Amino acid sequence: MAWYRGHGRDLPWRHTKDPYRIWLSEIMLQQTQVNTVIPYYRRFLERFPDSRALAEAPLDAVLKAWENLGYYSRARALHEAAGCVCRMYGGRIPDDREGLMGLPGIGPYTAGAILSIAFAQPVPAVDGNVRRILCRIACIRQPPAQREAREIIGALAAALVPPEAPGAFNQALMDLGAAVCTPRRPVCGSCPVEAHCLARRAGIEADLPASAKTVRPPVRKMSVGVVSSAESALLMVKRPGKGLLGGLWRFPGGEAAPGESGWEALGRWMKAELGLAVSEADFVGEISHAYTHFRLKVGLFRWVWSPSHGSPAGGVEWRWVAWDALATLPVSKLERKILAAAFPGGASGAEGPPV
Ligand code: ADE
Repeated sequence: MAWYRGHGRDLPWRHTKDPYRIWLSEIMLQQTQVNTVIPYYRRFLERFPDSRALAEAPLDAVLKAWENLGYYSRARALHEAAGCVCRMYGGRIPDDREGLMGLPGIGPYTAGAILSIAFAQPVPAVDGNVRRILCRIACIRQPPAQREAREIIGALAAALVPPEAPGAFNQALMDLGAAVCTPRRPVCGSCPVEAHCLARRAGIEADLPASAKTVRPPVRKMSVGVVSSAESALLMVKRPGKGLLGGLWRFPGGEAAPGESGWEALGRWMKAELGLAVSEADFVGEISHAYTHFRLKVGLFRWVWSPSHGSPAGGVEWRWVAWDALATLPVSKLERKILAAAFPGGASGAEGPPV
């Protein structure tokens, strides 16, 4: 608030509490920059000084006053809403959210702006500027359009509004967003709340808010061994526990460490899980599998085991599973994908894993 007193912009609609004027300014500012709006705002008010004058004017005259401001549906909705205000509320603009949002052209943001600026009600007005500021302050990494992020931003905005000056506070955020906390290169050195900004602390202020497109689940790389024995059985390992995949059977293998090749990861996991030293295995391809929070890229390696390699041993529960028993073994979707990729012919017609 101190920053706003020193740096806030002196704008015509900041010299009034008339809800009609606040409303008009908010509609004009929806898709148009402040400097463009100012002369239109002044002329429009000379011509249509209150909601009754606007309601009684022919639509053509209203569109004429809007000429070159663009997005004329705003003017049509405004004109229609002025008619509603006169018919339903005797010309007085409603001072509650339901009443305002029942009018054409007024959504949650505009209702919040009118309620806080004209009626001094302690409600937030969350537009793109405010979303950006709050994503940065609170270091919200999800795209703000996502439901969870949207709820956090709404709750944060509501909690921040000071009851003694809601309109000034909301407009302070707008000015902060316009002058300091800008989309591309925020001027953090001039920001009154830099010390509170978690995104700044993390050094990612320019990367937030995240765009919905760029947030893709991280990729994890895995190597698995499709190990067959002379009896055409496949070596399977049981997942421990009762978790999501607990108790299901899987192919041996695991996640690659940073910088580790698929081949190296395979060797490490086969040794660690089963005590087997893999000397030569064939890379048969890579498959992708998506979970909610990450994607797997799984490198598949075929290896034909023989008794000379030594018996599998180790900490995991393992079993040779005959080819025709595989269909009844409880496995996850990923294992089915691996099987299909490793044996494109499937069990039918084929005689199982070629040894
Ligand atoms: N953009 C939307 N509403 C505004 C306001 N009241 N002041 C400055 N910019 C705005």
